[in-house]
Amino acid sequence: MDIEFVRSRFIKHFDGKTGNVYASPGRINLIGEHTDYNGGFVFPGAVDKGVIAEMRANDTEDTVMAYAIDLKDRVDFKLSDPAGPKASWARYIYGIALEMKKLGVPVKGFNIAFAGDVPLGAGMSSSAAMESCFACGLNDLFGDNKVSQWDMVLAGQATEHNYCGVNCGIMDQFASVHGKAGSLMRLDCRSGEFAYFPWKPEGYKLVLVNSCVKHELAVSPYNDRRLSCERVAAVINKHHPEVETLRDANMALLDEVKGEVSEEDYKRARYVIGEVDRVLAVCDALERGDYETVGQKMYETHYGLSKEYEVSCEELDFLNDIAKDCGVTGSRIMGGGFGGCTINLVANELYDNFVKVVKEKYAAKYGKEPIVIDVVIGDGSRKLC
Ligand code: GLA
Repeated sequence: MDIEFVRSRFIKHFDGKTGNVYASPGRINLIGEHTDYNGGFVFPGAVDKGVIAEMRANDTEDTVMAYAIDLKDRVDFKLSDPAGPKASWARYIYGIALEMKKLGVPVKGFNIAFAGDVPLGAGMSSSAAMESCFACGLNDLFGDNKVSQWDMVLAGQATEHNYCGVNCGIMDQFASVHGKAGSLMRLDCRSGEFAYFPWKPEGYKLVLVNSCVKHELAVSPYNDRRLSCERVAAVINKHHPEVETLRDANMALLDEVKGEVSEEDYKRARYVIGEVDRVLAVCDALERGDYETVGQKMYETHYGLSKEYEVSCEELDFLNDIAKDCGVTGSRIMGGGFGGCTINLVANELYDNFVKVVKEKYAAKYGKEPIVIDVVIGDGSRKLC
């Protein structure tokens, strides 16, 4: 992504002045899907793709002039307007500004132009990249950088909850803010503790295959999954008050309440409880350099997401089958599901063949090639200039 390109648009669309430039990345997640809002573990890393925004205070009390460079769309709005802008991209700006105000940042009017190179609807968190980029900018422009990284993560998540209707967990915003080049991160979503894990798999590559099925319309099924988990946790809690989220449960406790929850909720909770354990198993395997186990857990996650949590689609299952047929070490749906990418752990010597076969077979079946993205683990939110 190109700072000069963003700057040229910022100058052209506003008053000719320049501002400060901020960047925040999208993310991948090695394992730990739909565990974040259950208090479990996740294992994401920031990528080298993200959002760049140029921002400048415009000396108005609360007028925001915003330009989405990729969409060629200009929206102006007031922070004091209780309804906020209608355009979905502008709601991220409106939402994060109000959330930063709640954190004590005296946000006034500003101009902003931004562009991004995270594929939209691909499960790579383009929206978290926006939220954390804008939060980083507002914190710098108006807040003397006093808001902590963790509070910016929470402000991004609150933007999704309060202005975009997605009851997401914390993983995406966390990864975007805290990312570090070359490292994945294991986050305990209950305590907020995290650790960096250098990611240098000897002999393997991480490759995303984007089905190009966009998951943008999946807000309500996502929120439904969360509700299923909360219902089951509440039932277990009646018998075992120490269980607050599914993170605190296990298969035996779940089986105790099998008759009190719907079959569907039971299946979904089974997936989550299994996934919390898989993240820890993957961490142990990584410490031993045991990539075969990492890959096997990834396939188990795919199975669970597809058959128990039911967030897959035909195209993603097809991509997973091709990976298996090609001898790929691990492959699974990444992110919320309902479309987007698979993440694949591929032995170097199989890489060329896998990329060729997956493109050919997918194109033969669905009439379009999937997009293959080599994962590069990049840095989190930062000021560029
Ligand atoms: C989306 C949400 C995250 C997380 C994932 C699934 O990306 O934003 O909080 O729940 O789905 O792991």
